Amino acid sequence: MARKFFVGGNFKMNGSRASIKKIVEDLNDADLPSDVEIVIAPPALYIHCAKELLKNPEVKVAAQNAFPKPSGAYTGEIAAPQIKDAGADWVILGHSERRTINKESDEFVAEKTAHALENGLGVILCIGELLEERDTGMTLVVCNRQLDAVIDKVKDWSNIVIAYEPVWAIGTGLAATPDDAQSTHAEIRQYLAEKLGEDQASKIRILYGGSVNGKNAKSFNACPDIDGYLVGGASLKPEFIDIIKSRE
Ligand code: G3H
Repeated sequence: MARKFFVGGNFKMNGSRASIKKIVEDLNDADLPSDVEIVIAPPALYIHCAKELLKNPEVKVAAQNAFPKPSGAYTGEIAAPQIKDAGADWVILGHSERRTINKESDEFVAEKTAHALENGLGVILCIGELLEERDTGMTLVVCNRQLDAVIDKVKDWSNIVIAYEPVWAIGTGLAATPDDAQSTHAEIRQYLAEKLGEDQASKIRILYGGSVNGKNAKSFNACPDIDGYLVGGASLKPEFIDIIKSRE
């Protein structure tokens, strides 16, 4: 079964009601390909507004985080059922900015992943190595360790999309080369096959993230294990549509 191409836009902590309305209107006006799954992740405050403004039911909305409890005294956190209630179907978990700045451990990311799945959200699970880890040949050790924590808690990966995001490529303008990204994606898929079986591994979408833009997106087209992109900065710009259409 072919894996459906997936393009996610992670707005991070950017945007206002006006700018997010403009991005959604641009998506509404665009002739979007039907063979691409499109998910936008505005800041939590704007999930409901984005969902209300979207006219194309094929464009889904994601949260950028979810706490692993359904409700309670967790000031400032957002629960998976609330994310669903606001109209989102996905959540981004394990982003390197949360692993690094918010000190989220592999185990905490895994706990959040299991909880989000149990509550009916799809999970965009981010993994990836720091520059010093890459330079010391640790890329796969790090990615596999981050995957292992989730594998321990989740057996059915059908609602998980992996985003491989080398941290050195995020927001730097220095995207991984297609050859490097393809080779890491293939090794991640091989590892998933060993741990989860060939069948599941062949169905899991593995996105590339890190300085993808309207110009370089097509350069990954020949990479068989790159099943889409998680886009940061460029998802706030009109070129996001070019990335969505990059397989045409
Ligand atoms: O979640 C998205 C990634 O962090 C990539 O961000 O496209 O701005 O490099 P970027």
